[in-house]
Amino acid sequence: MVKIGASILSADFSNLKEEIKKAEDAGVDFFHVDMMDGHFVPNISMGIGIAKHVKKITKLPVDVHLMVENVSLFIDEFKGMDYITFHIEAVRFPFRIINKINEINAKPIVAINPATPLDAIEYILDDVYGVLVMTVEPGFAGQKFIPVMLKKIRKLKSLIVENSYDTKIFVDGGINIETAPKAVKAGADAIIAASAIFGKGNVQESVKQLREAIRGVKYG
Ligand code: DX5
Ligand code: ZN
Repeated sequence: MVKIGASILSADFSNLKEEIKKAEDAGVDFFHVDMMDGHFVPNISMGIGIAKHVKKITKLPVDVHLMVENVSLFIDEFKGMDYITFHIEAVRFPFRIINKINEINAKPIVAINPATPLDAIEYILDDVYGVLVMTVEPGFAGQKFIPVMLKKIRKLKSLIVENSYDTKIFVDGGINIETAPKAVKAGADAIIAASAIFGKGNVQESVKQLREAIRGVKYG
């Protein structure tokens, strides 16, 4: 089944614990924590402390999305997290990063910005747990899904299928009830949403609608 990840970037931070509980009760499959350093992306969000709090509050897997320039500086700090997502644009030696992530028993996911060609990750595909396809320019919640990214997701899926890899495709950015089914049809195994889950007032209802929108939708 296609998984739904809740990005806490649009959550009410004065009530983070309740927001997480609500999303958990609504049936999301994992949490996504967007960490930004103001250099790799033009925004600063949350740091290691928040990710650790989230991990303490929930029993669901936690994915840390590192939108930072110095990836290797942070990996050891994230011991205990389930997935660590790093950007291919930020690293010079991706196999070293993958090894470091495996060493702390987390699953490595490589993120790829909208304009970066898939060639950049071709040779690491079999060594990562997943690929996070960015469908907006990273840095902010609430942006519009870039339509041509559907083509990229489909191309990536073909590459994975042709090589019989079991790499998972995560899709992040501008996911809502209109774009989610399109992403799943193109090959997404997991969709991640911030504003469509936390930005509409009723978390329970929002997750239900998102789940409904992808019900029965298959790659093809
Ligand atoms: C963007 C982040 C996304 C973001 C998604 O830089 O990586 O995870 O929170 O926000 P929405 O779902 O509102 O596009
Ligand atoms: Zn993200």
